[in-house]
Amino acid sequence: MITTYSLKQQAANWLQPLTELPVEQVISMLEVPPSSELGDLAFPCFVLAKSWRRAPQQIAVELSEQLGAAASPYATAAATGGYVNLSWNRQHYAPLLLNAIALPDYEQLQPEQKERIIIDMSSPNIAKPFGVGHLRSTVIGAALYRIYAAAGHEPISVNHIGDWGTQFGKQIVAHLRWSNPEQAAADPIGEALRVYIKFHQEAETMPELEDEARDWFRRLEQGDEEALELWRYFVKVSMEKLNGIYERLGVQFDEVLGESFYNDKMPAVVEQLKTLGLLKESQGAQVVRLDELELPPCLILKSDGTTIYPTRDLATAVYRRQVMAGDQLVYVVGGEQTLHFRQVFAVLRKMGYEWADHCTHVAFGLMRINGKKMSTRKGKVVLLEQLMDEAVARAAQIIAEKNPALPQRQQVAEQIGIGAIIFSDLKNARQNEIDFSLEEALSFEGETGPYVQYAHARICSILSKAEGFVNDPIVAHNAPMPEMWSDAAWELLGHLGSYREALARAVQLQEPSVMARYAIQTARLFNQWYSRDRIVDANPRVKADRLALAKWTGHTLERTLKLLGMAAPQQM
Ligand code: ARG
Repeated sequence: MITTYSLKQQAANWLQPLTELPVEQVISMLEVPPSSELGDLAFPCFVLAKSWRRAPQQIAVELSEQLGAAASPYATAAATGGYVNLSWNRQHYAPLLLNAIALPDYEQLQPEQKERIIIDMSSPNIAKPFGVGHLRSTVIGAALYRIYAAAGHEPISVNHIGDWGTQFGKQIVAHLRWSNPEQAAADPIGEALRVYIKFHQEAETMPELEDEARDWFRRLEQGDEEALELWRYFVKVSMEKLNGIYERLGVQFDEVLGESFYNDKMPAVVEQLKTLGLLKESQGAQVVRLDELELPPCLILKSDGTTIYPTRDLATAVYRRQVMAGDQLVYVVGGEQTLHFRQVFAVLRKMGYEWADHCTHVAFGLMRINGKKMSTRKGKVVLLEQLMDEAVARAAQIIAEKNPALPQRQQVAEQIGIGAIIFSDLKNARQNEIDFSLEEALSFEGETGPYVQYAHARICSILSKAEGFVNDPIVAHNAPMPEMWSDAAWELLGHLGSYREALARAVQLQEPSVMARYAIQTARLFNQWYSRDRIVDANPRVKADRLALAKWTGHTLERTLKLLGMAAPQQM
């Protein structure tokens, strides 16, 4: 009986009762033999020698007999030295596997325990342009969201927008002093940015501006109506701008709860810390000491009594756990905030919240765009929208050269351009730093979004010409067709069968790059197979089977691209 889709897992299921080793250990021990003549997988018998009190060679002979019996008729086993080599009977096994992959529940995992996972993602500071760090948080967070859902969990995305803080005092001062009403009406965010940058330039020679800004922020905190009105204006125009970006990226949020939402929830946390005796005075400020963890103290109240970033995150975490009932709290935030989150989680633990162990900081590395780091204040920003527009324009140019007759060119250009940006982020292990190059991201060769999308479009085109000839639903043939399951076809099929394993790994590591790599490998194995085994001039039965393999490769590519947040155009 076939009990799983993955060849390794299947081999381990057969070997487990024979070796009495845990399945996980068998999986990790299985090797790919040095040459394909030796079979698909090899199991080394050396670790068994001690407990079985026999030479590995002898164990291999015994085990291969037992394995052969257990795996018949799907696979055969043979001993070579101290190894048991397992060879699948491809004719027999491939249709079963292909059928299993074609089942409707194939793409959906069922977790042992369904969890509600609150994902803090994107979370930009508004009234400032959306930076590349927030782009990474958005793209990684949205991919994780879909990955969790595909794994059977209940993700909830929260945009924890930075809508509170001293920068609003500065923004208000800058606005009142220098904002040009016409400009502000035409491009509110552009104008807000212009005057915000000006504030920092002017403040270098006019320090009184800082006092003025502090004063405005104080008014804001005290609920002064004039200050609040200006603040609301900045929030509104920022959100409008942000929503345009999110729409282009295909990202939605279940909740938008900005930092201001927690204003009235912090005093309770501070009270609780006091009651628990955790607050200590340090140079006029109130902190929670974390010496035993060799961490610097976590600042809770500044010397003027005002709260600070960690205070807000404590209140936020408590809310997400107690009101939103999150089983896991996930924070998709740049690696530069690692210390902050370690401190916050440590304080939660000291407060007696055991669920602090289910809080994770999903950190990511810096991204440079064409070699530049971005800074809002100095105005040296590559605005994200510009980047997206440029990517789309280049994609349109490529289409004009490669496929000028393509219908809906503009839409496809958008899908390729935005997809290229997303993919060049997600293909990297998230902690790595990224040197983003638009040219590279849009190349149709190499590990890129367009490369993967193109493999999918190619399959769509093959299938559209072959209508009616596909072996679908898949039926096994009685007479053997050895040419169908060539090494390349078999390797591709085996890879399709490992989709669920890849998904589980992506969840476990909280790492969308696992799926991006999976997509690259799918495209690569497809291209390799397609260049070797011709579909069109095969005999009708082989052709029908090849088309079925192509079809399910296409489905796999499409579903992986969607997990990553990319479109899978049918033509490009
Ligand atoms: N707005 C913050 C920043 O841009 C990120 C917030 C991340 N989320 C959180 N709960 N601290 O740095």
